[in-house]
Amino acid sequence: MAKFIINGGKKLSGEIAVSGAKNSALAVLPATLLLDGPSTIRNLPDIADIKRKLELMRELGAQVDRQGSTVTIDPASLSKTELNPGLHQKVRTSFLLAGPVVVKLGQIDFPYPGGCVIGKRPIDFILEGFRALGVEIEDHSDGYKLVGKKLRGGKIVFPRVTVTGTEALMTLAVRTPGTTTLINAAMEPEIPALAEFLNSCGARISGAGTSTIFIEGVDHLSGGTFDVIPDRIEAGTFAIMGAATNSHIKVTNVVPEHLETLWGLLKRANVKFELAKDFVEILPHDKMVAIPKDIVTHEYPGLATDLQAPMTVLMTQAQGNSLIFETIFEGRLFYIDSLNSMGADILMCDPHRVLVTGPTKLSGSKLASPDIRAGIALVIAGLIAHGQTEIDNIYQIDRGYERIEQRLQKLGADIKRVEG
Ligand code: EPU
Repeated sequence: MAKFIINGGKKLSGEIAVSGAKNSALAVLPATLLLDGPSTIRNLPDIADIKRKLELMRELGAQVDRQGSTVTIDPASLSKTELNPGLHQKVRTSFLLAGPVVVKLGQIDFPYPGGCVIGKRPIDFILEGFRALGVEIEDHSDGYKLVGKKLRGGKIVFPRVTVTGTEALMTLAVRTPGTTTLINAAMEPEIPALAEFLNSCGARISGAGTSTIFIEGVDHLSGGTFDVIPDRIEAGTFAIMGAATNSHIKVTNVVPEHLETLWGLLKRANVKFELAKDFVEILPHDKMVAIPKDIVTHEYPGLATDLQAPMTVLMTQAQGNSLIFETIFEGRLFYIDSLNSMGADILMCDPHRVLVTGPTKLSGSKLASPDIRAGIALVIAGLIAHGQTEIDNIYQIDRGYERIEQRLQKLGADIKRVEG
């Protein structure tokens, strides 16, 4: 298995451009199957999760032609109503394909989604929402069969905010006769981006980006074109990386409005930075201070759970005690032992909260990446640490960050990929 070897303790400098957003692309790609013509999606990141999603779409019969960061998808030949179980288990959002296939072919069979290191990740709200729109769901021994003979609009109240749930229901409702209202909908930027794409194809969605979304079902949707929005998680991660290594770097292709809570927290930690229309410049600081109680993950526009692990690493370099509170997933703090093995002083209070005491000197260690976001946090820790850090299981990092070592090398980082 491939690993990263990092010789840390060096400052970074220069420019790094943010890629297209993984989670936006993972929602827009399946939606192209709903349409009555071919679509072109540009600015796709070249990462494992996207490759697998495209493979699943090909297996369903769609014509998928990828040239670099652009893909053309023609759903005319969509013919299969079963998801490949092996691939389905590996791409958490593969059930976003369910709505479009039900609309186009009347039914779909898909295996149970697997658990995941960051938590159980159930799909109960999504299945309930499908039922509310008239989808019949049969739970058989190894998965679900969804049949959509009499689809009709309806009101769906999500018990908790769910990003993929909002996307799945929006996608089904655009071709479902009548009006659908989604209440307590997710407001993450990926949601208005998906709505904008679908509306450009003739859908009638309003309110996306607020907690109530109205969708009028339509009979026909043309193909369309979409530029994947910049990845706000990558942008925030690079900004935190610059601050953690006390470097001067410019992060470009950023939508600063997507990260307001992060900027507020960085300011409070005494990180120096300047925001412009589409970039952020991280400047060297004198001394970072801890944030005692407000690093709390929350649905958008709160602090993204996907930035929690990088923020924890940052706080190991700040003066004082910072409590980090992960409210979205139950398994997202299991990288703490790795940071402590590098010299961090982090106390696990309960499965959702840790107390970081800083600043601490980190030193190189042998680690394994547990998931995408904890994985990149360990890369940041490796860049801060004195000595050599070895990170195993970097497939998890590759799932979310395109050619990350090459891009960091351009900032002067001493990081290399070693194929094992
Ligand atoms: N939930 C349920 N039942 C459901 C749906 C969700 O209990 O039917 C719970 C989840 O278990 C979780 C909470 O609701 O505790 C929120 O989950 P949500 O559905 O919003 O998460 P998701 O859509 O599966 C997306 C991103 C995640 C990101 C979360 C939160 C994608 C592909 N994934 O997941 O991104 O952390 O929203 O913002 O969009 C990542 O990129 O590394 C990643 C994990």
